Amino acid sequence: EKERTLAIIKPDGLFGNHSDRIKQVILDSHFNIAKETVVQLDEESAATFYAEHSSKSFFASLINYMTSGPVLVMVLEKENAVADWRHLIGPTDAREAKITDPQRVPDQLSQNHLLIVSSALSIRAMCGLDLQKNCVHGSDSNKSAEREIAFFFKETSSDEAVANH
Ligand code: CMP
Repeated sequence: EKERTLAIIKPDGLFGNHSDRIKQVILDSHFNIAKETVVQLDEESAATFYAEHSSKSFFASLINYMTSGPVLVMVLEKENAVADWRHLIGPTDAREAKITDPQRVPDQLSQNHLLIVSSALSIRAMCGLDLQKNCVHGSDSNKSAEREIAFFFKETSSDEAVANH
């Protein structure tokens, strides 16, 4: 059965002109882009979206980053969309996603060739910079996906994006 997840190309992804390449990877990986919209988040909407991180030390910096420019928001559809998209984007820390040299990979990882290959191919390896500027977002569960999709998209027959963010 088809599943939905929310993907965001963050401000560094748009500034860096990575959107077309990322979308190509999305389509090549057999996701359907069911909805998409470009949004400039304000502080309040970014803080609401990331409410679960409000007590973290990096929260203010995260809000500053996510409001620094427009973001491209997409609803992705396929079987197992939530887990498959998380796998495709790679680890939160883009520097970790870029580890492709076996000499630099910790022992327990170097045993696992598949993990190294998949890190090398991840979207964050391709266009992310670090732990914060990691280029893309993916919902971490079905429950988060539904909340996050509802946050950005009004569920109407016309499928129009909510314009007030
Ligand atoms: P994401 O997992 O999409 O959503 C939460 C975001 O917070 C995460 O991507 C990063 O952009 C950012 N983030 C997570 N952990 C840290 C951290 N330790 N320091 C700075 N930013 C972080």
